[in-house]
Amino acid sequence: MLDLLYSHPFLTLTLLIFLPFLYINISILLENRAIRRLGAFAPPVKARLPFSIDVVLRSISNATSNKDLDFWAWLFAWSPNKHSPTVEVSLARQRFIFTADPENIKAILATQFQDYGKGEPFHEDWKHFLGDSIFATDGDQWHNSRQLIRPQFVKNRVADLDIFEKHVRHLLSKIGGRGEEVDICALFYCFTLDSATDYLLGKSVDSLDDPNTEFASAFAEVQRVQNTIARAGPFNKLLPKGTFWAGLKVINDFVEPFIESVLRMNIADLKEKTNQSFLHALAATGTRDRKVIRDQVVAVLLAGRDTTAGALSFTFQELSNHPEIVQKLRREILERVGPMEAPTYEDLKNMPYLQHCMNETLRLYPSVPFNVSCDLVWGTAGEKADSIVGENVVA
Ligand code: HEM
Repeated sequence: MLDLLYSHPFLTLTLLIFLPFLYINISILLENRAIRRLGAFAPPVKARLPFSIDVVLRSISNATSNKDLDFWAWLFAWSPNKHSPTVEVSLARQRFIFTADPENIKAILATQFQDYGKGEPFHEDWKHFLGDSIFATDGDQWHNSRQLIRPQFVKNRVADLDIFEKHVRHLLSKIGGRGEEVDICALFYCFTLDSATDYLLGKSVDSLDDPNTEFASAFAEVQRVQNTIARAGPFNKLLPKGTFWAGLKVINDFVEPFIESVLRMNIADLKEKTNQSFLHALAATGTRDRKVIRDQVVAVLLAGRDTTAGALSFTFQELSNHPEIVQKLRREILERVGPMEAPTYEDLKNMPYLQHCMNETLRLYPSVPFNVSCDLVWGTAGEKADSIVGENVVA
């Protein structure tokens, strides 16, 4: 056989070019047939450059200029009636479906919950930052994470408001109060980082005093690059990541001594000190795996920090435009809590107008405006499990 190939170089060359081409085309045909059997393709977003690179660049550029919503509007405008809520993009042969259709979102989050998850592509993109935590895993790994961190969200932990009160007072001291202009959004980002590190590790990074503290800058840089990695999809291997690795090292080096100190304690002591920090409570469950502990702590830091800072910033933006709402809210707070006292958990639960204000802010400015799910079942019939679904809750 080899002799035949050597003696016919032209035939060999033709076969070498033709066979991979044939293989790719047959796989595309089979895949398309399987998709059509399941339903239909969504309207395609027409890319101008090969592998849809222009779509990736647009997504990154809109995200870095805080214009994510424009990107989603541009995507959905490709649908036949210009605003139907599902379209799809093929990025280097990977299928990305973008949907704002409530029926699709209901299927992903509720009725077909078991069929969707983060998927391996998401885990691959996020594993250096979030590791194997609750946000980056599926199935048993996700379930184990959930079991591990669940006790930290029981009522008596969440109702412990002393930490937050301490940082709120610190925040108020930075606002001034004599009519001067302040960037409340930047202050909220520091406030949530300080209270989250205090709650999680038992020690605040005190970024309200120094917003450029090494940890705060590293965390911001890692989030910035991670954002681009997530948007670049299969092309993210081409991105420069020097500052990302450096930032991750700062984060890990910062967290490590706290983990070390709880691991040196015995379980009985830890159980007595579960209220001291999330980390103490986590170690008190008996886990001795540093990576498991590090991953959950960093994941909850990410989960609780930007979401809360964003929600607070938008609430204050709306309040500053609606003095009549401020008046009503103020009345409710004075009646329930009084002018000087700190609110208790029960107080917070019993101020319906405050809750409505927060709910309405989150409706108008969702802290998690889109999410990513991967079809976990598609692979079970022999096809590739790679159709990624971006759910958009703001469109
Ligand atoms: C305005 C505030 C917040 C909003 C809008 C918000 C929103 C969300 C959303 C949409 C998810 C689902 C994510 C997914 O499935 O990929 C989620 C999950 C989660 N959030 Fe939040 N979050 C907020 C604050 C917080 C805070 C303060 C913490 C912790 C201190 C937290 C911890 C978590 C955790 C651990 C999960 C994973 C739950 C699971 O997979 O079972 N979140 N959050």
